[in-house]
Amino acid sequence: MDDAKRNEVIALLAKAYNMELETVLNFIANSEWLDGIRAKHIKDSLAADVQEEIGHAQLLAKRIKVLDGRIPGSMELVMSQNTLQPPSESVDVLDVIKGVIDAEEAAVNHYQVIIEATDVIDPVTQDLCITIKGDEEEHRREFKGFLQEALKM
Ligand SMILES: [Fe+2]
Ligand SMILES: [Fe+2]
Repeated sequence: MDDAKRNEVIALLAKAYNMELETVLNFIANSEWLDGIRAKHIKDSLAADVQEEIGHAQLLAKRIKVLDGRIPGSMELVMSQNTLQPPSESVDVLDVIKGVIDAEEAAVNHYQVIIEATDVIDPVTQDLCITIKGDEEEHRREFKGFLQEALKM
């Protein structure tokens, strides 16, 4: 892999790292903020996923380092999950479910970009992102189930 390609892969990994950390922040906030009977499972699921998303961030940071990249600090992070902000009403569970699906969808799409960008040239990064993409697809599927149920209530 030449330097230009390596830097491109590092930048893609740094973006994924940023996305994971923003997800962690919003999952923590929503896992505490929501109220009501309908919210119970959503809160528990978000709280459990926090650990998994932190794990993803750590794996990405490790891979950036292995590729001789520098891991961004907090001042360099860019936040953009406008649909995953804790809703003004703490019983607006549906808003959070939709926001989680948006975030997981964005993650799935970004990992697909990395998988394609690293094809043949960086199988280790590709393998890592294939595994993480699978995790995000499971999260998305779980919240699509919550959405189906919430829409029937
Ligand atoms: Fe993740
Ligand atoms: Fe996820």
